[in-house]
Amino acid sequence: MKASTSKPRLALGLLIHPTGNHVASWLHPSAQVDAGSNFAHYAQLAKTAEAGCFDFMFLADALAVRGGHMEALSRWPQYMAYFEPTTLLSALAALTRNLGLVATATTSYNEPFNIARRFASLDHISHGRAGWNVVTSSNPDEALNFGRPEHFKHGDRYARAREFVEVVKKLWDSWEDDAFIRDRASGRYFEPSKLHVAHHAQEHFNVRGPLNISRAPQGYPVIAQAGASEDGRELAAHSAEIVFTPLHSLDKAKAFYQDVKRRMDKYRRAEDQMKITPGLNVIVGATRDEAVRKQKHLESLVHPAVGLELLSNALGGIDLAGCDIDRPLPLSLIPEDTNTSKGTLAHTIEMSQKEGTTVRQLYLEYAGARGQRTLLGTPQSIVDDMEEWFHSKGVDGFLIQPSVAPADLVDFVDLVVPELQRRDLLRTFYEGGTLRDNLQLARPDNRHAASTTGERS
Ligand SMILES: Cc1cc2nc3c(=O)[nH]c(=O)nc-3n(C[C@H](O)[C@H](O)[C@H](O)COP(=O)(O)O)c2cc1C
Repeated sequence: MKASTSKPRLALGLLIHPTGNHVASWLHPSAQVDAGSNFAHYAQLAKTAEAGCFDFMFLADALAVRGGHMEALSRWPQYMAYFEPTTLLSALAALTRNLGLVATATTSYNEPFNIARRFASLDHISHGRAGWNVVTSSNPDEALNFGRPEHFKHGDRYARAREFVEVVKKLWDSWEDDAFIRDRASGRYFEPSKLHVAHHAQEHFNVRGPLNISRAPQGYPVIAQAGASEDGRELAAHSAEIVFTPLHSLDKAKAFYQDVKRRMDKYRRAEDQMKITPGLNVIVGATRDEAVRKQKHLESLVHPAVGLELLSNALGGIDLAGCDIDRPLPLSLIPEDTNTSKGTLAHTIEMSQKEGTTVRQLYLEYAGARGQRTLLGTPQSIVDDMEEWFHSKGVDGFLIQPSVAPADLVDFVDLVVPELQRRDLLRTFYEGGTLRDNLQLARPDNRHAASTTGERS
């Protein structure tokens, strides 16, 4: 691996949900109401992100619509009608030059061959800007679309994920970088000694290979991950180059940062080869009052049925119908463990136990930040906080979650980005062409070529 030697810089990602990150964003007068299937909308977002010098934009995904009560489902568009993300990013690649393009693909309801091929293709189409967010599926209903009566259990799906990533990487090494000589003079299209067949046969997958696309410009597309559980942390240490795990206080962020980075050593990975970039729900105004007004307006648009559904999801799908929303969450309703996100469950329980916190306050917190941290204020106060977290080694950067799209992305780029640039935390132009260049991540050598140069794979 060839590592970058330049000074570390704050990594900046952008999480895009079609109308915005806030559950009530689609009701906001400035939101693009049909955003999920409006390509021009995404094109505008991608170009705005690139003008703001973001490292990458990231699209989350699920392979099923959300489940739950129709009263709530019909009032909240997320995951109900939107583009398949790698198809969308392939089109956006043609309209952008430097912005990294990261999409979710689940290891629970895909096959490694398809995913290896899809992301290698995106990497070629974008000239080295693809990233894959590895998830094990948050929505249990995905199982029902793939011939299973129920979702894999937490530990099982992480074990499958780990092997899945291994297979994908083996497939990405099917061809050495210079395998395709396409030599008309000799009549040889590829060099046979530079083709490597995976022959993978382990517990979860039997995959012969090779992949039917040449090696990706980045070697491997960049791998992202968001687990907070023990299994999630281990998977991150093993494979992730970007980590989206929610982090709510600087002390906890520092502990998480040290823990996950320390685990990398046993996989022979250097700590700077992972960028920890938790989500950040930024609400910016020219004054703090203006930012508070923005927040309150969105909160006023949250229907209680949607709020309760959100909270129910965070607690692993428990039934909250009949719950008094202006009283604390009854202790009897809090589950001890679930098959859902362990990190989200722990955070929700912690919030619910703060003295006097009502159910409404809990769901409003989720409605805006979606389980991540909120930062509200002026550009200066927001950048003060980001800078402190970055310099204290709580994070390597942030995944910005605009509440309403495009308006809050435009505000971030107009108000916060110049302040980040003024303090030399963010570039003013792109120095390199690939997502790895943006994030100062090394390009992995092909394991077969590396074995002849003495480098480890
Ligand atoms: C920023 C962010 C984005 C995520 N995107 C997706 C997604 O697109 N699809 C999905 O099924 N899960 C998604 N997740 C859920 C995570 O992949 C993971 O399942 C969750 O954080 C729970 O992991 P844990 O049980 O290890 O705590 C996301 C989580 C975060 C924090």
